[in-house]
Amino acid sequence: MTFDRSIKIAPSILSADFADFGREIQAIEAQGADWVHVDVMDGHFVPNLTFGPPAVAAFRKHVKTVMDVHLMISPVDAYIDAYAAAGADVLTAHVEAGPHIHRTLQAIRAAGMKSGVAINPGTPAEAIEHVLDIADVVCVMTVNPGFGGQKYIDMTAKVRKLRAMIGDRPVHIEIDGGMDPVTAPLMAAAGADVFVAGSGVFKGGSVATPEVYGKNIAAIRAAAQAAL
Ligand code: DX5
Ligand code: ZN
Repeated sequence: MTFDRSIKIAPSILSADFADFGREIQAIEAQGADWVHVDVMDGHFVPNLTFGPPAVAAFRKHVKTVMDVHLMISPVDAYIDAYAAAGADVLTAHVEAGPHIHRTLQAIRAAGMKSGVAINPGTPAEAIEHVLDIADVVCVMTVNPGFGGQKYIDMTAKVRKLRAMIGDRPVHIEIDGGMDPVTAPLMAAAGADVFVAGSGVFKGGSVATPEVYGKNIAAIRAAAQAAL
């Protein structure tokens, strides 16, 4: 993974057909996905349950780009090695998931992955100020985590602040929740470069009609690029 701030689209397979993950991943990559976003939920940190390490290892066999694993779990540290072994390229933990985010990000890098720190809508930018030197990705949540298809919560001021705090460090700003051709440009203008989209990519399409995924990805990308 080389670093740049070009616009990247990361479809979330939380909105894919759960009976057909292999073909869904192949379809979104063939249609222009830059990263594949995998939402891991534990039924404790968030009120929903999704993918353990064996499921993520199975996805890995199909991902040719970047596997971006978003942990919505607490505690985190005991599971870092298992998600590394499952093949995560980026492993993101929430700043709200425990008292030791600094240790968690160090452990993610020590396990050979890029480190991500996610921040909920109700948490101020300053909460991650002191981990920006050990983070590769800052994931700004624009919904309360747990479900796909929720309404976008505007975080323009927070993203602007984080962009200024990051300065020239090689840290991506990723936006997660409610991204579509209307909302993504707001975040691109504020300084984001990675756009997670679940319903915004998968809506209206299927593995039988993957060109719909391609149109959705291209529309979000074009709208975000136009805002720069
Ligand atoms: C929410 C997840 C998101 C979700 C986004 O808890 O972290 O990645 O899949 O879904 P949309 O794009 O439908 O808001
Ligand atoms: Zn996510």
